[in-house]
Amino acid sequence: MQFTVAIDGPAASGKGTISRAVAGLFGFAHLDTGLIYRATGKRVLAGEAPIDAARDLRAEDLAADGLRTPEVAQAASQVAAIPEVRAALVAFQRGFARRDGGAVLDGRDIGTVICPAAEVKLFVTASDAVRAGRRWRELVESGHDITEAEVLADLRTRDKRDAERDAAPMVAAADALVLDTTALSIEDAVARAAEAVRARLPAA
Ligand code: C5P
Repeated sequence: MQFTVAIDGPAASGKGTISRAVAGLFGFAHLDTGLIYRATGKRVLAGEAPIDAARDLRAEDLAADGLRTPEVAQAASQVAAIPEVRAALVAFQRGFARRDGGAVLDGRDIGTVICPAAEVKLFVTASDAVRAGRRWRELVESGHDITEAEVLADLRTRDKRDAERDAAPMVAAADALVLDTTALSIEDAVARAAEAVRARLPAA
């Protein structure tokens, strides 16, 4: 069975948590496409040219340490605005999306560009303050020395760049279900996403 769940939204909106939970509930494979851009950005920080970095990307790069830092996130968002970088990464994402057994992909352009025919599309969002608080706690827990105000500024810079770029800007697909997690518990957000998936699953 081929079944694609496309989950887009800004940084720290909860889309990663929801994607992992939905994949676990339905036995689907999960791809965090942000990791692809982070791994490309990390190669660029190490000195490689952006388009070469995207073309040279290996599966192991996605499992590397150090992809979750704010510096790598900014580098990811910069390389992600380059059309040739995005083009080099499309085939891998589409291949993953159509694998047998179902797939959840989360990112910024999954429902609009990578998988416009996805069976389920969600756009997950939350207020800036709530997103910054969530990301700040994650970073502090993993040992980063950073203030909440710095995290908020970092998210806003990235969101603006991601939403305003010409190449595959971050935007909700016209047929996406918008899920605002500002005041939703993780359980409630996952339950709504699971309901949307169940509604589209072929009858057993
Ligand atoms: O989701 P995450 O915060 O890990 O993504 C890092 C950056 O990668 C984003 O700010 C965005 O610029 C880019 N990205 C993208 N398209 C995707 C996933 C991530 O442009 N599908």
